[in-house]
Amino acid sequence: LYRKSASKELPSFLLLGPLGAGKTSLLTLVCTIEFANGTASSTHTSQEPQSAVCQLPPSIRSSEDQYRSENDTSARSQPKFFLLDAPGHGKLRRHAQSSFTTVSALRGLIFVVDSAAVSSAGGLTEAAEYLHDVLLLLQKRHTQGKTSKDPQAIPVLVAANKQDVFTSLPVGLVKSKLEGEIAKVRQTRSKGLLDSGIGMEDESGADEEGNWLGEYGAKEFRFTQMEEHGVEVTTVGGNVRGEGEEKGFVSDWWTWIGENI
Ligand code: GTP
Ligand code: MG
Repeated sequence: LYRKSASKELPSFLLLGPLGAGKTSLLTLVCTIEFANGTASSTHTSQEPQSAVCQLPPSIRSSEDQYRSENDTSARSQPKFFLLDAPGHGKLRRHAQSSFTTVSALRGLIFVVDSAAVSSAGGLTEAAEYLHDVLLLLQKRHTQGKTSKDPQAIPVLVAANKQDVFTSLPVGLVKSKLEGEIAKVRQTRSKGLLDSGIGMEDESGADEEGNWLGEYGAKEFRFTQMEEHGVEVTTVGGNVRGEGEEKGFVSDWWTWIGENI
């Protein structure tokens, strides 16, 4: 799937998020260099993962570049990276999950949410369940990494997309709503485990704790609880498309990519 040898050494970022959040739109906007498998279409629900080689725009400084003087006019080549677009459809999410292990040089996850969709109960639950599961995978990866060779920490950007839409929630609210809903998901999942008897045998206590996201036993969930599990979560707003003449606004996401590349 993502095994394209030419791109192997490039740092890569993975796009995740619910149906229609704007992942493919973002991929087509920022990546014009090369598509690994044809051109991406954002007019349809994606059926297959897509990937493309992208390059940081000249206005964005990469982490390697931060010590350069503003007056340094020598040519600097902007770093290239590989962007992978995972379909949001539930049945296709296994692609995304398998790519946690198959993608080499994974530098970060970009979880795209539709800031208008999360204002509805259904949209919020869908996004929160998916994000909960993604964060739990990263947490487990970190826990396992303690015993083996420490894998590189993978930061998460929650991209609050569609800020141009009239009914969209502001970034701060997208963040707090997701945190509140993830707390509910976490509660439900742990109750589900107890009811089903999973984890009640051999390593009961350990299992329950291992499947609990963030601070064990806490009532509230905050993204900052992920830090002790080696996962840094940042929520940043933007929009891929804009109304009328307005162009999309994605430069704050670029900045995050530049910092983590
Ligand atoms: P799946 O492939 O189904 O998981 O969805 P996706 O996340 O790839 O969404 P996609 O990029 O196909 O976008 C879904 C719809 O949202 C398209 O009609 C886009 O034009 C629209 N869209 C994406 N980003 C924005 C945005 O920032 N603002 C507005 N107004 N519309 C957007
Ligand atoms: Mg898509």
